[in-house]
Parts: sequence; C-alpha cells; structure tokens
Amino acid sequence: MELFETMLQHTSVRSFTQQKLSNELKEQLILSAQSASSSNFLQAFSIIEIADAKKRKMIEQIANFPVDNGENGSLYIFVADLNKHAQVLALNGDSMEHLRTMESLVVSIVDTTLAAQSMAVYAESVGLGICYVGGIRNNLFQLKEILDLPELTYPVFGMFVGYPSEKNEVKPRLPIASVLGTNTYQTLTPEMIRSYDEKTAAYYQARSSNTQETNWSEKVRQQFRYPRRINTVEFLKKQGFVF
Ligand SMILES: Cc1cc2nc3c(=O)[nH]c(=O)nc-3n(C[C@H](O)[C@H](O)[C@H](O)COP(=O)(O)O)c2cc1C
Repeated sequence: MELFETMLQHTSVRSFTQQKLSNELKEQLILSAQSASSSNFLQAFSIIEIADAKKRKMIEQIANFPVDNGENGSLYIFVADLNKHAQVLALNGDSMEHLRTMESLVVSIVDTTLAAQSMAVYAESVGLGICYVGGIRNNLFQLKEILDLPELTYPVFGMFVGYPSEKNEVKPRLPIASVLGTNTYQTLTPEMIRSYDEKTAAYYQARSSNTQETNWSEKVRQQFRYPRRINTVEFLKKQGFVF
C-alpha cells in the first residue's frame, strides 16, 4: 500500500497476535523514532521498552488498559528527557536554570511526540498496529518508581506495537476546512460542529464493535467535565522543573 493510503487507514490497535517483533524490526522502530526532526538537535527523549512481565502488568493497571493478558505486542514508554542535557551541563559546571523551564519542557514533549509518531508511521507502513497509551500518566509517581525515572524526565505516553489481531473502522476526522486556515486562524463554526457531530454519530452507531449513541461534541464535553490528572504540576516540580 502507498504510504499515504496506509496513513489514512490508521486506527488504533488494542489487540495483537502472538507473533513477536523480530530484533531487527525492533531496532528499525527505534531508528525510525530517532530519525524525526528534533528541536535544536537536542533529541530530548528516551524510549523504554517494557520487557518485564510484572512491570508491564503494573503499567497496564496504572493505565487501566490491559492488552492480551500482558502477552502480545510490545510496550514502549516515551519519556520527555532533559536529564541527558543536565549531564552535559553538569560535566561543564554550567547552570541548569534554563533547563528547568516550561519552554524546555515543551521542547522535550514535542521532540518525544515527533519521535513516537515517526515510529508509529513506520510501524504501520510495515503492517504493524499501534496504540498510544496516555493512561500511563494516571499515576505519575508510581510510574516514576517502576521506571526509575531521574529528575528532568516526564513520561508522556506509552505505545503498544504489534501485529494486529483485529482492526477497527477508521474514525472520520474533522473536514480539512475545519482544521486548515489560509493566512488566518480558522474558527470552528456552529455549522461545522453540527455537521461533524452528524458524521461522527453515524460512525459510532454503525461501527462493528462498541457501538455508542454519541458524537464528537459529546466526547469533547465528557473529556472536560472534570479535571484530570491534577497532580501533573506537582509531579513536574518534583522532577526539577520550575514554573
Ligand atoms: C497521546 C495519546 C494518548 C492516548 N491514550 C490512549 C489510552 O490511554 N487508551 C486508549 O484506549 N487509547 C488511547 N489513545 C488512542 C486514541 O483514543 C485514538 O487515537 C483516538 O480515539 C483516534 O482513534 P484512532 O487512533 O483509532 O484513529 C491515545 C492517543 C494519543 C494520541
């Protein structure tokens, strides 16, 4: 399949076959992640493969996301990482003041995300399926313990990667006119929202599993009805960031 076609066929995969990823493929996944652009070439991320069954179980519990009884697919944790840069500054006796800022944190989260999505695109191009797991942030302090995360690191998300045992229908995205502005920002109008709600309601009703009476607006409202992961700032401060 053409890469473009493969990309438009993306759906998150939450169940995998027993087929293991070869070591060669695993290395290619990491190399594809590392090939992404990186702000000022800082390469401000680390990837942790979870090979230990007990750790995987603990992380799946934190994320409330059990996958194939912990047996299939590989789980990678993507960590925004400025600790490497702290090592460089420390070796040179430089101040870390500007490493601890919100801007540096944003840079590291962006680098991490670009690396992950490069890996995701490569994985899908060779027939693998992936699913991001933001749920790992449900208990940042426990995750820090499990992964032995040093200061100036922040686990952004996990990613399951494996050979898909089932595939969902593609979720219809917002129309191009709702996301692309020309010269100025394109506001989402009530008419655009209504029309997209109709489209997504039809998708949720018709899909072959987990059908729901809902639409995009309802999903958005549900998401922002109550605060989530309210100790993120506390965690980041403990990790050495200064806001
Ligand atoms: C950063 C991030 C975190 C995510 N976390 C989860 C998660 O914890 N559990 C889950 O089931 N899906 C998770 N997803 C998958 C999204 O729900 C999914 O991408 C979205 O609903 C669109 O569906 P699609 O990927 O099948 O097109 C996450 C996606 C992203 C980008």
